[in-house]
Amino acid sequence: MFEHFFMHMLPKKVSENGVRFKPTLYLGAMLVMLFMFLSVSGLLLLFYYTPERSQAFASILFLEEKVFLGSFFRSFHRMSSHIFLIVLSAHMLRVIFSGAYKVRTYSWRLGLFIFTLIIFEAYAGYLLPMDQLSWWAAKTGLELMKSLPIGGILESILAPDGIGSRLTLTRYFALHIVVIPMFLIVLVSVHMFAVRRQGLSIEGMKVSSDKLKSRLIILFVVMFMSVIILSIFIGAPLTLEADPTTPPNPAKSAWFLLWLQEIVSWRTWYINFVMLVYITMFFLPELSRRKSGFGWFSFDDRPVWISVLLMVIIILVLTIIAMFFRGADWSFGLYFS
Ligand code: HEM
Repeated sequence: MFEHFFMHMLPKKVSENGVRFKPTLYLGAMLVMLFMFLSVSGLLLLFYYTPERSQAFASILFLEEKVFLGSFFRSFHRMSSHIFLIVLSAHMLRVIFSGAYKVRTYSWRLGLFIFTLIIFEAYAGYLLPMDQLSWWAAKTGLELMKSLPIGGILESILAPDGIGSRLTLTRYFALHIVVIPMFLIVLVSVHMFAVRRQGLSIEGMKVSSDKLKSRLIILFVVMFMSVIILSIFIGAPLTLEADPTTPPNPAKSAWFLLWLQEIVSWRTWYINFVMLVYITMFFLPELSRRKSGFGWFSFDDRPVWISVLLMVIIILVLTIIAMFFRGADWSFGLYFS
């Protein structure tokens, strides 16, 4: 029965370009696999986690110290989420650099919604351990959100009684384990359906999907083993229980928001430029003058891919600055901690 189920996940015939590595880099497939890793490991953590202000930290400590393989599953979940965010960014970049965004406008825009939800999902999960690190990272993330034009409304919905308090912890928990995953499952299924229905943006001869199936199995094993090995060697940190009266100096946000924190540290309203770029991304297919179909770094699409490449470099540099060069009171220096 299982074999039957997996056999029917792919059509009998697929485009030869879906089988080749270069057009997709198999990034979409990796995302599906990581999504599965996250769901299964998240479910296991759910057996022990208590979303209660006074017990959340203790339940994680119990998981880490007393539960067989507890710390491994926590680390596996965290590692999968880090890799997921990196592969997700790579998938979006491949869609831009290969020109697929211009041909598959529907998938592109739906993908942007999926991306936004995933950032919220990762952020909401950050608070749950309720240790100093997660508490202050969630607090800093909320400060960043507040600097948005609709920040006040978002804060009153997400954190009506302040980070880590009863209602807020319940809401972050509900968002992280039910609300956002539910939307994600629906939207990702629609995305996959659209990809299967329309085919890849690059045309190609139809070939049997057998080769794709065996490649996907190999990729699954490689991904699974890599995440296991990384999780064993890089554990998930757990500092002291959150103390809202003793902020670390500096309090840094989650790693994927650090570049935003760096920008906001210059001038709060600069975040509006970031929002403007984000909204522009929805209209990228219309703004682009690209004429060619699928093709990596097309000559006629230079304005788009050069701008995006620059953006990526800026985000990476800002992340490195915020991560390693910001110390007490956000002063500039070299800080490896
Ligand atoms: C959980 C998140 C996601 C999953 C599981 C996923 C999965 C996939 C898969 C399996 C494919 C076909 C193979 C491939 O291109 O690698 C694909 C294609 C595509 N994806 Fe995603 N994707 C996700 C997020 C996104 C995001 C965030 C965007 C854009 C903002 C996006 C835009 C696209 C587009 C435009 C295509 C069509 C590419 C083409 O026809 O060449 N996807 N996706």
